[in-house]
Order: sequence, then structure tokens, then C-alpha cells
Amino acid sequence: KPELFIYDLDGILTDTAEFHYLAWHKLAEELGISFDRQFNEQLKGINRMDSLDRILALDPSKGQLSTDRKLELASQKNDYYLTLIEEITPAHILPGMVDFLDANKKTNAKIALGSASKNAPAILEKLGLTSYFDYIVDAAKVKKGKPDPETFTAAADALGIDYSNCIGIEDASAGVEAVNRAGMFSVGVGDSAHLSHADYLVEDTLKLKFEDVLSQFHKKKA
Ligand code: G6P
Ligand code: MG
Repeated sequence: KPELFIYDLDGILTDTAEFHYLAWHKLAEELGISFDRQFNEQLKGINRMDSLDRILALDPSKGQLSTDRKLELASQKNDYYLTLIEEITPAHILPGMVDFLDANKKTNAKIALGSASKNAPAILEKLGLTSYFDYIVDAAKVKKGKPDPETFTAAADALGIDYSNCIGIEDASAGVEAVNRAGMFSVGVGDSAHLSHADYLVEDTLKLKFEDVLSQFHKKKA
């Protein structure tokens, strides 16, 4: 039986993945760099400074920026992002996710958050979901971001649960890779072009059903 479910935040519990995209896009435009949604898939799940590096690498002619300049740009992006998330309320929880969390709560399996975002605890509060969580891993708790498995193993370690009894739920390619490398069962939410490495894949959160995830988990173990 699964003993722990680890949920990604941005793109799984709420649609902040879109706000991260809009904020990075605005910052990049100001730098004279443009990128599309296709490229944005590579930014999903990636921490703030690594995301900035990936964007800057799109235009090598800009040369190496100083660390101070990069910190300034990252903080500018976060300001744009904070403006976008100001209005978040429980109405912004993605469809089906409250039902999913309720079903999780009814079992003995624990609930953790596995997010690369420094803003994760504040967003969880705005969504009114904090009380569901037995443990929260955010950017402050890990040394290596996704696709490194640390975000997921840190949650399991804190709760004393075997990795093989954990399920990670992710919308990012780097996130699914992190779950797989942790030796956990990976659930991908999104399209197969980016998430074909997930153990179980659904198109969107509305198609994510607790019973289906359980049966897929058992099928893989059998
Ligand atoms: C999540 C998102 C990324 C974001 C990262 C850092 O993983 O999927 O798009 O860059 O968190 O978020 P932060 O709020 O710390 O800038
Ligand atoms: Mg995500």
C-alpha cells in the first residue's frame, strides 16, 4: 500500500505554472530574449536561479552576467510573479484536487508537498490547503532542485517512509524525472510529449482519480 503521496504545487494543486511562465516571459522580453510555451516546458519544476540561467543561455551574445545582476533579475521576476498571485483564493485550486486530497486523507497514507518554489508555503495558505499537509518541502529545504530526487526523498525521510511506498504527482518533466530517480511511483499530469517517462499519465487534474492511481500503483508492484 502507498504510505505517502507527495504533491507538486505549481501546475498540480493550482495553475501558478501559468503565472511563472508569464512572469519569466515578461522579464525575458525586457532583456530582448523571447521564448515560447514549448521552451517553457523546460522551466517547469526548475528553481528560480536555474530557470534564469536557462533563459539567459538562449542568447549567448549577452555574455556572462555578474551574480549581483542575476540576483536582481531573479528578484524582478519574483516581483512580477507576486503581483500575479496576489489574487489567489481557494477558487484557484485545480479541478478535482480537493476530492483527490479528501480521498487521500481518508486512507492512512500521509500527504506531503514537494515544491521547488520559495513561495510554496504562502500559496498553500492562500489556497486554504495547508492543514491537509503532514510535511512541506519547499526550496528552502533542499540543496539540489528537480530533476534531482532530493525534493521527494526529503519528504519521505522526514516522515520515515520507504521510497518504494511513495507516490509523486507532477506536471513537469524535471519533476517526473525526480520522482523516478527517487525510486517512487510517478504520476504525470499533462501531455505525453513531455511526460512519457511517468509510470501513470493523465491529461489533466480532472482525470486524476485517487482509485485509479492506487490501482496503477498496485499493477506496477505486481
Ligand atoms: C516551481 C515552478 C517553477 C519555479 C520554481 C521556483 O517548481 O514549477 O516554474 O521556477 O517553483 O519558484 P519560486 O517561487 O521560488 O520562484
Ligand atoms: Mg509543477
